[in-house]
Formats: sequence, C-alpha cells, structure tokens
Amino acid sequence: MLIVANWKAFVETKDKAGRLLVSAKRISAQHHHDIVLAPPAPFLGLLAGTNRSKVAFAAQDVSATLGGAETGEVTAPVLAGFKVSHVIIGHSERRARGDTDVTVLEKVRRALAHGLTPILCIGEKTRDDDGAYLQFLRSQLSAIYEPLTLKERLKIIVAYEPIWAINHDAGEAIGHADLTEMVLYIRKLLSEYLPGKGSTSAKILYGGSVETGNARDLAASSGIDGFLVGHASTDTTTFTALCKAVS
Ligand code: PGA
Repeated sequence: MLIVANWKAFVETKDKAGRLLVSAKRISAQHHHDIVLAPPAPFLGLLAGTNRSKVAFAAQDVSATLGGAETGEVTAPVLAGFKVSHVIIGHSERRARGDTDVTVLEKVRRALAHGLTPILCIGEKTRDDDGAYLQFLRSQLSAIYEPLTLKERLKIIVAYEPIWAINHDAGEAIGHADLTEMVLYIRKLLSEYLPGKGSTSAKILYGGSVETGNARDLAASSGIDGFLVGHASTDTTTFTALCKAVS
C-alpha cells in the first residue's frame, strides 16, 4: 500500500519529526509499504535533503506562483531541490483557506513541471439524498483533468477525502461499502480522461479518520491503493500499528 502521512501542523519539533522518520523507515523495511511523509515545510529541508532510505517525502502544499516577489510562498523548484517527490494539492484545509479549482490546477501544473507527483485531494463537504455530491466530485476532477495532457493526467494520484470524515475518529470515517462504491465511481470518472487501462491503474487513496481500528477493513478489497493519514500518522506507536494492520 501507498501510505501518505500528512503531519499537518501536529508535529512541531525536530525531535518528534526525527522519531517519526526513524519509525517510518522501520515500517517500510518490515511491511513493504511505500511510505510518504508529509511534514511541515522546514522539516522537509531537514529530513528529505539527507534521506537515503526508501521513505519518500511530500510537501503539504506548493505555490501556484512562478516564484519571484511572492512572500511566504514555497515553489516547486525549491521542493524538487530537496528530493521531495510528492506534493499534496487541494487538501480541504487549503481549499478552506482560499484554494479554488483554478488555483489547484495551477499548483498541479507547477508540481508536474518540476517532476513532483501531485496527490490531488477531492471530497464532498456533506452527502445528500439526491446525489449532488457525486456531481460535485465530478466537477472537482474535471476541473483538473480536462485541461491537462494525457501524459500529465497519468502522473496524478487521487486522494478521496470526504470532508465530513476528516479529523474525527474511526467511528465517523466512511464505511467499507461506501468506500468501495466511491472508488468505483472515481475510476469511472477517471476513465473519461484516461483511456485503456489508465483508470484502473490510476492510484486512488482514501483519507479521513483512518486509524488502527478501521484501516484493515477499509483496505480489504475496496479497490483503494493506500491511505492519506492525518492525526493517526503523528504518533509512532499508532502509525506503526496502522501500517501493520494493513500488511
Ligand atoms: P485525518 O486527516 O486522518 O486526521 O482525518 C486526513 C487528512 O486530512 O489528510
């Protein structure tokens, strides 16, 4: 499985970041998962730049700008220079702070132009009986896939993160049946942009209150390729147990 650990702003010391990296290395050696750590930006410089292990690194966001007079922005070439391989784009916590589909597309383009793999987050705020949320997901995907070339589309990893499920606990996450249905639906949407085997081989992650208690159930034949884990990835014991549960 591809397991992306989104540390958000939970990890605020070098010591803790270092401990989490050591345990991620152990997990990737013992359980054959592909582990990608997404620490706060300064820790990327510290950890990714000197990393020689199988563990990979993602930025939690990337600038949509081309650099220059842009105070506070971290651009794709900076990340690429620190051996960062992935970048989370369009996370709902960034969208809540102003990212629109237009900005998200710009960020995806910046990432791709510098060899970074975009982890594109999509997800509905709420569910309704009329299925408007399905249309919402369709529009989130088409806004990004439509303008890109096939070569670019093939590089994107989709992270399905229903907003209602984020930041709670396993009991409030999506259930196995619903997840299976959503993954099928997302692959169907992707087939409009990725011909042939493209949509079946596209990587789809699930994120939203994945914990040790629900990881195995969610992973079992739901069609997902991995998880985007938030709070449960910021404690070495919990994260190790979660990864072990899906081995
Ligand atoms: P959570 O976060 O696992 O804490 O719900 C997931 C995410 O927002 O990426």
